[in-house]
Amino acid sequence: MEVVVLPTPEDCGRVVADVVTAAVEAAPGGVTIGLATGSSPLLAYRGLVARHEAGLRFDHVTAVLLDEYVGLPAGHPESYREVIRRELTDAVGIDPARVHGPDGSAPDPLQAARHYEALVTSLRPVAVQVLGIGANGHVGFNEPGSSLASRTRVKTLTEQTRADNARFFDGDVAAVPRHVLTQGLGTIGEAEHLVLVATGAAKAAAVAGAAEGPVTTSCPGSVLQLHPHVTLVVDEAAAGQL
Ligand code: GLP
Repeated sequence: MEVVVLPTPEDCGRVVADVVTAAVEAAPGGVTIGLATGSSPLLAYRGLVARHEAGLRFDHVTAVLLDEYVGLPAGHPESYREVIRRELTDAVGIDPARVHGPDGSAPDPLQAARHYEALVTSLRPVAVQVLGIGANGHVGFNEPGSSLASRTRVKTLTEQTRADNARFFDGDVAAVPRHVLTQGLGTIGEAEHLVLVATGAAKAAAVAGAAEGPVTTSCPGSVLQLHPHVTLVVDEAAAGQL
């Protein structure tokens, strides 16, 4: 695992944007990239938008999302599909038909999980997968206890994750869905290059567990230690327990 410690979140965003840019430029004939939501990658996405405005083209890019809430109607502003369109893909000119995520509004979430697993498989290789990490070590929505070999499936969020994400729902924990669809840790691990970005002291324990702790389902991020190409991009606060 390559660990890159940088002074500020802005520096982290620049490095993650560099990695994605390199993948986009390396494959002008078409490339799949994996995107994460949450606040951690936002500075990287802003950097990519700025590069697009300076001429970087994304029309050959297909994007796959990690996860989605179950039960939000399609088009809900906090559904991850809408978030990624708002924060990145519309602004860099990726056709919405090439932006894929699990269908959290499907009547049968189990079927939606199987469908998404097959779709991601069909769009491989995923050249680079951007990741964040939850304070409890979750990756995507693979909460502690998730099998390290898991595939796309329905998960139940912990109360901590619902509380952490309430800020996106006007602070109302009750409005945060209980169930989600997420790529499994095994699914995520099939991307060629994993780039995990984390900033701030609240992530320090999760970062240390992922990078240096035992490989355990108690810290889903620790599965990254088994992957041959991982770049961990952290600011000094998030690196505080390394
Ligand atoms: C969310 C997302 C994850 C994200 C994590 C951290 O629940 N499902 O993909 O990495 O939690 O979020 P943030 O970056 O906002 O701290």
